Amino acid sequence: MSVLERITSKDAIALEEKHGAQNYHPLPVVLSRGEGVYVWDVEGKRYYDFLSAYSAVNQGHCHPKIIGALQSQAETLTLTSRAFYNDMLGRYEKYITEYFGFDKVLPMNTGAEAVETAIKLARKWGYEKKGIPSNQAKIVVCQNNFHGRTITIISASNDPVATENFGPFTPGIISIRYNDIDALREALTDEHVAAFLVEPIQGEAGVYTPDDNYIKEAFELCRSKNVLFIADEVQTGIARTGRLLASCGNCSCPDKNCSGTPDVKPDILILGKAISGGVFPVSAVLANDPIMEVIRPGNHGSTFGGNPLACAVAMAALEVVKEEHLAENADRLGRLFRDEMQKLVAKSSLVRLVRGKGLLNAIVINDSEDSSTAWDICMALKENGLLAKPTHGNIIRFAPPLVMTEEQLLDCISIIVKTLGEFKK
Ligand SMILES: Cc1ncc(COP(=O)(O)O)c(C=O)c1O
Repeated sequence: MSVLERITSKDAIALEEKHGAQNYHPLPVVLSRGEGVYVWDVEGKRYYDFLSAYSAVNQGHCHPKIIGALQSQAETLTLTSRAFYNDMLGRYEKYITEYFGFDKVLPMNTGAEAVETAIKLARKWGYEKKGIPSNQAKIVVCQNNFHGRTITIISASNDPVATENFGPFTPGIISIRYNDIDALREALTDEHVAAFLVEPIQGEAGVYTPDDNYIKEAFELCRSKNVLFIADEVQTGIARTGRLLASCGNCSCPDKNCSGTPDVKPDILILGKAISGGVFPVSAVLANDPIMEVIRPGNHGSTFGGNPLACAVAMAALEVVKEEHLAENADRLGRLFRDEMQKLVAKSSLVRLVRGKGLLNAIVINDSEDSSTAWDICMALKENGLLAKPTHGNIIRFAPPLVMTEEQLLDCISIIVKTLGEFKK
């Protein structure tokens, strides 16, 4: 079959089932086109995308500026490897470090690779700067985290589906309760701890938003114990939560795009997904010189990390975030969304609560975690033209592209209210 030949949804799904590893359980919809907040299936039906590829497509599908940068760079130079310099990497490194206010960036491709990189960086810093005895560095993580899928990262996971039969696991990880500052205080009494790795909001866990002061207190505690504070903002970063970064979410800075030094400035910042607007796998680890300087030639790398195509795409994608005021839009529309969902919670026995920040939100369905109700609701939403996906059984995450207008959001809210109103278990 030619790749250009039209295909039905049924045939496309059958092909994936026959030839692909079954490591996902997608909603049965086959998408073939995207523009802004919309996607279309192969039969031509239009949907609102209310997942944004897990917060990668913050700038909307096929944003013309990002695609323009992709096309022009693709015709010029795509990959040199780091065996040679290229004329885009330095420009990108200057751009992204100034954008987020760090001395240095280490460019990678996927979120998981960036998390791995941050863990390596923290361990090396632990030995060479903090004086932790050889091979004894520990990283503190939180229960119910999601940082990716590599062996080291799943070694930090307590999700049996992600870990079962993948052992043996990487040692040197201490897992504590999320949103529990006393648990962190206790963990940091161990002098071999190099870093605390945390999501400012636990996205995959079900958009679990910690208490207002948790991140700030955790950051200050780390500082007082000479422990690196690593913020995994792969999902929460790049304006998703109504701020450029979620970790500075409680600062009083009036500029929602600010990259200054508010209450919390992570020692190591991990970004991915929306750095490229979902166009291309681009991730980044940012840190200041006293930390990043422990990495020397040959210590770490990636053939594709820092490739010219990624650099061009990422600069365009980050420009869009500022030019189109996506943080402000996410903040404003997020408040509207939660207010309207709160009204629904008040009158519907189906929805227990709504939570989130900016345009990273979730509703918790009033049913057991192993029920199919959230999945069935997502199927009904799909029928009504809106795509969302359950996360952890009875939770539905709502994360549309940040380029959404108020009118579009109100339309989406009416689809959700109507679907839930008509839904029968
Ligand atoms: C917080 C967080 N970290 C890391 C990752 C892993 O990113 P990737 O899937 O690009 O490896 C994800 C993916 O959802 C994530 O949400």
